[in-house]
Amino acid sequence: MPCTVVVGGFWGDEGKGKIISYLALKEPVDLCIRTGSVNAAHTIWYNNKRYALHMVPGGFVQEKCRLLIGPGANVHVAQFFREVEETGVKNRIGVDNLASIIEEKHSVQDKSSAHLKGLGTTGWGVGPAIEERVRRTAKGAKDIPELKPYLADVSEEANRAIQDGKNVLLEGTQGIMLSLFYGTYPYVTGRDTSASAVCSEAGVGPTKVDDVLIVFKAFVTRVGTGPLPGEISKEEAQKRGWFEIAAGTGRDRRSAPFNFEVARKAATINGATQAAITKLDCVYPDCKGINEFDQLPKEAKHFIDEVEKQTGVPVKFIGTGQDALNIIDRRK
Ligand code: IMP
Ligand code: MG
Repeated sequence: MPCTVVVGGFWGDEGKGKIISYLALKEPVDLCIRTGSVNAAHTIWYNNKRYALHMVPGGFVQEKCRLLIGPGANVHVAQFFREVEETGVKNRIGVDNLASIIEEKHSVQDKSSAHLKGLGTTGWGVGPAIEERVRRTAKGAKDIPELKPYLADVSEEANRAIQDGKNVLLEGTQGIMLSLFYGTYPYVTGRDTSASAVCSEAGVGPTKVDDVLIVFKAFVTRVGTGPLPGEISKEEAQKRGWFEIAAGTGRDRRSAPFNFEVARKAATINGATQAAITKLDCVYPDCKGINEFDQLPKEAKHFIDEVEKQTGVPVKFIGTGQDALNIIDRRK
């Protein structure tokens, strides 16, 4: 803080939602800006309720936080309204005038394209919606009457808040290995997912950012097709307690052990200044619910040290359970 970008260090689903919700509760965050689109589901457990948010920023758990969707984002109008209702944030959420709209036809195009299907897309239509924006025929948020009361100038608001020394969180989606530029092309999403791209989509210049917080999970997962180094079988994943089902699409997630080489590269490309590691308790069950680093078992501490050594980035947050507050916060 004051301006922190949160990004994923693997193939998405690292637990960005959990880390963002923790930060929003603790800091407290004044402004949280979501980028990307509806393909990403950020899971947040708060007050024993689970939220899988595709549009509303994860900072919603902080009741004073202003929530914004950036100009570079693609807004799914129906999903936006569903989530605004579910989270009760009607009076404090805004959508940038310049954000693009993702429509049902884009989803139909996504699902009926053999090529996109072969890449294992989520089927929400994000690729086709971005294509249409690039062709300059896409609808914008300002063309949708129901969005009128929500329209905002996000870059103005963000930069004013930063200028005033407020806490601003820029919420990235997916992970670096799904980036159109840096990922396992062509098995990637339709946009860059790096910290620089998140800033660009929110309208915040690189000199205004104080921290880039990269989120890793203690093991790696990926949904859809494409390479996953060190992949283990579903049976093995179940045995280890790593097996997950995608929050957004309900598909099985593939899994592999923590990948130090990918983590190093991810930290470099994102210019990460801090790291978070989630789900440490899935790899080292004795860690469950622990809030103090000193109380971690020796192997778990060793793993964290190794991540710091190999990425060159201090691990400031460690997830030890599903609730937003099951975290070891090493900034203290
Ligand atoms: P698309 O973004 O729907 O075009 O899908 C392209 C690739 O990115 C597929 O492998 C998807 O499974 C993956 N992907 C897209 N969004 C997410 C996400 O939020 N988490 C994990 N994988 C994702
Ligand atoms: Mg997800």
